[in-house]
Amino acid sequence: MKNILVTGGAGYIGSHACKALKAAGYTPVTYDNLITGWQDAVKFGPFEQGDLLDRARLDEVFAKYQPAAVMHFAALSQVGESMKDPGAYWRNNVVGSLNLIEAAVDAGCLQFVFSSTCATYGDQDGVTLDETCVQQPINAYGASKRAIEDMLENFGQSHGLRSVIFRYFNVAGGDPEGEIGEFHQPETHLIPLMLDAIDGKRPALTIFGTDYDTPDGTCIRDYVHVCDLVDAHVKGVEWLQGGKDSTVFNLGTGDGFSVREVVAYSAEVTNKVVPIVEGERRPGDATKLVSGSSRAIRELGWTPKRSSLKLMITDAWRWHQSGHYEK
Ligand code: UFG
Repeated sequence: MKNILVTGGAGYIGSHACKALKAAGYTPVTYDNLITGWQDAVKFGPFEQGDLLDRARLDEVFAKYQPAAVMHFAALSQVGESMKDPGAYWRNNVVGSLNLIEAAVDAGCLQFVFSSTCATYGDQDGVTLDETCVQQPINAYGASKRAIEDMLENFGQSHGLRSVIFRYFNVAGGDPEGEIGEFHQPETHLIPLMLDAIDGKRPALTIFGTDYDTPDGTCIRDYVHVCDLVDAHVKGVEWLQGGKDSTVFNLGTGDGFSVREVVAYSAEVTNKVVPIVEGERRPGDATKLVSGSSRAIRELGWTPKRSSLKLMITDAWRWHQSGHYEK
């Protein structure tokens, strides 16, 4: 079985990717510093604790497992935090990725699947975003991911590194079998925070801004189920294993939902009232982020199966009620 090095394999998306890789016949090797990840979520292959900033540790892990490819999820990923502490984003995301890419190239591992974001596009005034849109991030998180995309292109030109870059829209939901799920500490994402408010773990959900230029005044996002998202990543590995060239795919459904619409769906799925308060805009938030592309469906053969908002909230609610990881 081929080893795939999964950085951030103890995190929300990385752990789902490990499950999907195992099901597809690969051995996912998790590399994670456990700062935001959970060791309890590493269930599908070996675990190596380590930091992206520790080049010697990376070299050791590449030598031990000789992975066929890298799947790189490990990153700081909160838009709001990135506006308060941009240095952390440039250090962990950009310098950390540089270490990882150099370690991979030096180990002769030239296939790389990268977790990027639609936050690299910035706020483009209601435009649906496809892979050819100009990237002009409005927050340090998006800027850090765009820099890593550039880095991958340069290492492709100089060292023959081939990469599949996925620009995610808003990832939600969880493993339908309930083995793993979304759990961040602290939590900042809309759906888990809303579920906390619904079952009384928080007093209310604050809606960040009700004066955006959208039909109901709240931000619009394109939600994609984590299981569909990681299926695309397995196809990304197969793309590279099949000898194809570097490429970029958006991963979103093309349907946008406002914060108020997500609130309404959550009330319907859980059959409970969502306590809300209306608050100020959160710095760094774009008005509308919706994918305008079905390129992954056409060219990668990706078939999203669970990405209806109702199913994503249903899966998230089931996980939410079943308990969480412990450090
Ligand atoms: N929101 C609220 N209240 C909250 C939390 C969020 O109103 O308590 C709103 C946000 O303002 C935003 C929407 O809900 O309009 C979604 O916010 P999230 O924090 O769930 O997600 P983001 O869109 O900020 O960011 C997420 C990932 C990023 C990724 C981005 C792509 O965290 O890594 O999706 O859109 F880049």
